[in-house]
Amino acid sequence: MYLVARPALGRLTGRRRAELDGYFEELLPLHAALRAEAGALPTAGALMQAPLLYVLVRALGARRILETGISSGYSARLILEAIARNGAGHLDSIGVEVFGLSELPRSAPDGLKGRRVGWLVPERLRGPWSLHLGTSQEHLPALVAPGSEPIDLFLHDSLHQYPTMHWEFSTAFPALARGGLLASHDVHANRAWPDFLNANGLRGDEVLDHDLGVVRRPGPPS
Ligand SMILES: C[S@@+](CC[C@H](N)C(=O)[O-])C[C@H]1O[C@@H](n2cnc3c(N)ncnc32)[C@H](O)[C@@H]1O
Repeated sequence: MYLVARPALGRLTGRRRAELDGYFEELLPLHAALRAEAGALPTAGALMQAPLLYVLVRALGARRILETGISSGYSARLILEAIARNGAGHLDSIGVEVFGLSELPRSAPDGLKGRRVGWLVPERLRGPWSLHLGTSQEHLPALVAPGSEPIDLFLHDSLHQYPTMHWEFSTAFPALARGGLLASHDVHANRAWPDFLNANGLRGDEVLDHDLGVVRRPGPPS
């Protein structure tokens, strides 16, 4: 089903169809294994477009990736699978210990049979993973402070409300590498995404699979 996003992925990455097809091909068993493990549980907010992130990370050879919103770790799992295939890279995941789409910072894990956020990420993938438990407001500024390594891919998937979305875009964008990607789930939830793009003169954005927005920071890769 994600194959319909191929033309947009091609425009975003500059990669040919045959190369993208190869990433989709290798993704199939990884995605099937994840779905089998997750069972019915990823409905707790899982980013169902996470397979597209796998392809983006593979196609761009993204080294530094930062995401907000962890929940069960569906997106983290496939980003880390891509990092493992690339043989290099690091993922910082920021999120409160709540599975659903709420913001109840530091409340106790709320079920899923005692599982903790990020439970879908197996031990074998955890080497290049940093888990930051708390809100993006608490953790993001330090992770994108001046002098930190530029980010190749930033994904917003935490609280889909205008103030949080706009603040995350504004905070992360200056830390993006030239040619790096800013991505957001639920771009139609409010006007945060179009407002941010317009205010920064960003063009060439794509909306993948209905509501995963992605835009490239202009300039040659740094
Ligand atoms: C849509 S889910 C994330 C899904 C995850 N990316 C996946 O693919 O499994 C959103 C998560 O963000 C958390 N969250 C809500 N507000 C947050 C905030 N301000 N900072 C970080 N995480 C937040 C929610 O508790 C929830 O776990």
